[in-house]
Amino acid sequence: MLQTICYVSSTNYGIVYNDLRHLFHITKRNNIHLNVSGLLILKNGNFLQLLEGEKQDVNKMYKKIRKDNRHHNIIQIINTSSRERLFENYDTGFAIVNNRRKLNQLKSYLNWLKVADMKRVNKLIHLLENFIK
Ligand SMILES: Cc1cc2nc3c(=O)[nH]c(=O)nc-3n(C[C@H](O)[C@H](O)[C@H](O)COP(=O)(O)O)c2cc1C
Repeated sequence: MLQTICYVSSTNYGIVYNDLRHLFHITKRNNIHLNVSGLLILKNGNFLQLLEGEKQDVNKMYKKIRKDNRHHNIIQIINTSSRERLFENYDTGFAIVNNRRKLNQLKSYLNWLKVADMKRVNKLIHLLENFIK
């Protein structure tokens, strides 16, 4: 069974560029290895992460991430079983979105999803659009 979890959080004070670079590197490497697809967006000091994959993998990863002291104010927005993944073919399966170019790429991809008429996931698409606009 596939599971999708989405949350927002705030970066902790004191986190520096190199910490983030390391975090993004580990995240992308581990998630591709574990076949967890999705996104990690950093914008204005806030994270939005979307994790999609096998239920036990996603739950286990989310449990670990929640304990990470590089962020706080973790608010879960979506936790649902799903029939398909939205991001498995986007940016090698797990995208780190941390600059203007990647934000614009993501906007185009979300527009494409809308054209593909994925009504079931419109709520999620709007959520992502609001976070990155
Ligand atoms: C906002 C945020 C998102 C994270 N997302 C992931 C993730 O998707 N995958 C991952 O492996 N680690 C992620 N991490 C890092 C994990 O909390 C953890 O440090 C990392 O997986 C290494 O775990 P280990 O010490 O058990 O090897 C995230 C951390 C933060 C602060």
